Amino acid sequence: MRTDSGSPLPTLASYIVRGRLATGGVGELLLASPLENPSARVVLKRALPHLAHEVEVREGLLSEARWTRTVQSPHVVRLLEVLAPQGELVLVLEYIHGVSLAYLLEAEAHRGEPIPVGVKLRILLDALAGLAALHETSVEGRVLLHGDLTPSNIVVGLDGVTRLCDLGLAIPERTGGTAEFRGTAAYTAPEVWQRIEQTRRSDVFSAGIVLWETLRGERLFRGDGFLATLQNVLEAPIPPLDQGRPELAPWAPTVHAALQRDVSRRPPFARALLDLLQTVGGAAPGEEVSHVVKEWAGEILRKRWRE
Ligand SMILES: Nc1ncnc2c1ncn2[C@@H]1O[C@H](COP(=O)(O)OP(=O)(O)O)[C@@H](O)[C@H]1O
Ligand SMILES: [Mg+2]
Repeated sequence: MRTDSGSPLPTLASYIVRGRLATGGVGELLLASPLENPSARVVLKRALPHLAHEVEVREGLLSEARWTRTVQSPHVVRLLEVLAPQGELVLVLEYIHGVSLAYLLEAEAHRGEPIPVGVKLRILLDALAGLAALHETSVEGRVLLHGDLTPSNIVVGLDGVTRLCDLGLAIPERTGGTAEFRGTAAYTAPEVWQRIEQTRRSDVFSAGIVLWETLRGERLFRGDGFLATLQNVLEAPIPPLDQGRPELAPWAPTVHAALQRDVSRRPPFARALLDLLQTVGGAAPGEEVSHVVKEWAGEILRKRWRE
């Protein structure tokens, strides 16, 4: 999307499109600048062109816009406006100059050099603060849940602040046999697979997986294919967080509280899990997160900014 030839960059409504940040199964994220302020950056989130007019896809984007606008937290990506050029729906989000937690965990695995536990804890506490804000938002008397809490949907900023993104599957709680699987297999709670219910406790289970994987730098339930992953979520033994890693012992009770397969034994919502984790302590300040992002992703961020 760059124009080395000097031809003008493409525009979308009142934005200059500078490049592509991500492409998913349904949508794409573009890095863009307002025409009236080319040095600023925003993110345009829209459906892939061939899906742009599908009713379900449009409803998904509208509901993402609605919940993103409703939740107010420094740890949730903000919605700036919604555009409708030629009848297409485009969300304009604040741009976070940073990388996903998934990116950092992959980089860690490749480099074989651990990210300090204190830095990981700060990232996780921030993400839980975002999830807590979402869990404390109620719409027409029903509380919201995220529905797709994964390391890809957690963005770690070069500013040292971590934010939750992608409220595309956020919904009010569903009880009474109405749950349906829509999220990411390896991060979906057992009761959602079993179509029993999907409540804030289901997000807490997903958060438990993210905590376990981030602190250990390993995947927990991912199997060889969808069915193997499903089976792992439902019944694979969950190795103790501190197995072979005694330095992780202080956080093990909290992480395993979130990973209870029995819904009633889990912390009821993100704030409760956040409080438990905070009580154990050990989180580094945001500056150290910033330092790690700069060291591990500085190059791709510099390149992205130049686009
Ligand atoms: N506002 C943002 N600023 C910077 N990067 C973002 C932003 N929102 C999302 N991302 C990055 O783009 C990726 C895809 O965005 P997401 O909203 O999760 O799309 P999808 O619905 O296709 O999963 C995320 O994993 C994250 O790394
Ligand atoms: Mg996503």
